[in-house]
Amino acid sequence: MKKNIKGNVSWVGYIDWELESFHGDDYSIMNGSSQNAYLIEEEKTVLVDTVWAPHRFEFVENLEKEIDLHKIDCIIANHGEVDHSGALTALLDTIPGTPIYCTANAVNSLEGQYSKRGWNFHVVKTGDELDIGNGKKLIFVEMRMLHWPDSMATYMTGDNILFSNDAFGQHFAVEEMYNDKANQCLLMKEAIKYYANILNPFSPLVAKKLQEIAALNLPVEIIAPSHGAIWRENPMQIVERYAAWADAYQENQLTIAYDTMWEGTAQIAHEIAREAAKQSPDTVVKLFNVAKADKNEVMTEVFKSKAIAVGSPTVGNSILSSVAGWLEFLKQLKFKNKRAAAFGCYGWSGESVKILKEKLSEAGFAVVDSEVRSQWNPQDEDLARVPELVKALLA
Ligand code: FEO
Repeated sequence: MKKNIKGNVSWVGYIDWELESFHGDDYSIMNGSSQNAYLIEEEKTVLVDTVWAPHRFEFVENLEKEIDLHKIDCIIANHGEVDHSGALTALLDTIPGTPIYCTANAVNSLEGQYSKRGWNFHVVKTGDELDIGNGKKLIFVEMRMLHWPDSMATYMTGDNILFSNDAFGQHFAVEEMYNDKANQCLLMKEAIKYYANILNPFSPLVAKKLQEIAALNLPVEIIAPSHGAIWRENPMQIVERYAAWADAYQENQLTIAYDTMWEGTAQIAHEIAREAAKQSPDTVVKLFNVAKADKNEVMTEVFKSKAIAVGSPTVGNSILSSVAGWLEFLKQLKFKNKRAAAFGCYGWSGESVKILKEKLSEAGFAVVDSEVRSQWNPQDEDLARVPELVKALLA
């Protein structure tokens, strides 16, 4: 059902309370999500984005209850990813020929996903405008690589709404719609998780784009993203958070991530946690077995950390597959300005610590020399190297 946002602008999306994962199973959903689409009914009727393909028929059915679909003058496709474009096929079966405003890259991504269907694309670029009547217009801002080449935001004058698509979003189901109605703790937890796991690799572009948008001098009363809560109370708070997150973000935190076979490496991990709390009581310490913990939650904690310690025993002249997979994801996220140390047990060949250090360095971490490498289970003399490792990480 449509829900009024401001003036003649309504939300017509889908709240996905049951969603458990996103991007296949690559992103865990803990508190539901939503695909936000918006309907603008000025002199022109404009649909901004749609919903994920599994909900396409329900979306079109609901929209038909609100308006005659033939009254839709145009569709804005801010982003071609299927969670926002997934209802276009069903919708355009009913209203073929409706103009779709999108970037040139979105034409590629939409035709690549749905094949060439003769859709009526109107390619736009940053600064292009569309008059929607009643003295209002839409201004388009390309958001290239935030997070796809096709991404775009649309600003509506008069009501001063920024339809930001994925930027400033959260995978968070909020029936009450707005940031000021949402549980603040969960809202920011989901916003930072979204940034750390999806947008962080593009942080240099985020910083530049925020400056570019600020230079446009557009008053922003509402930021309406394509997932989660709509920012209407102090909407610039999330822009300020993004500016901080894009700037090699860190808090006073140490995250320890490991897996273990017979508890030896786990013992070192816990000793590092105890020692960090002793050496630096103000530092937040988090510890995860990466084979058991949710990887997106762990990466969010890494994002907040100034240093990490990663452990694996040696197995098959290498490291445990759980840690190897975790390190591959760590590398993708391109964290900056963080230190790292390695630790682990071994029985005979003992390559794990060397491999961990190489992989952490490849992932962009400043790897400290100190390490804890223990043959068989850690003895007192092995654990005696923990204070030096912690000191190097937290210095
Ligand atoms: Fe929410 Fe990049 O799609």
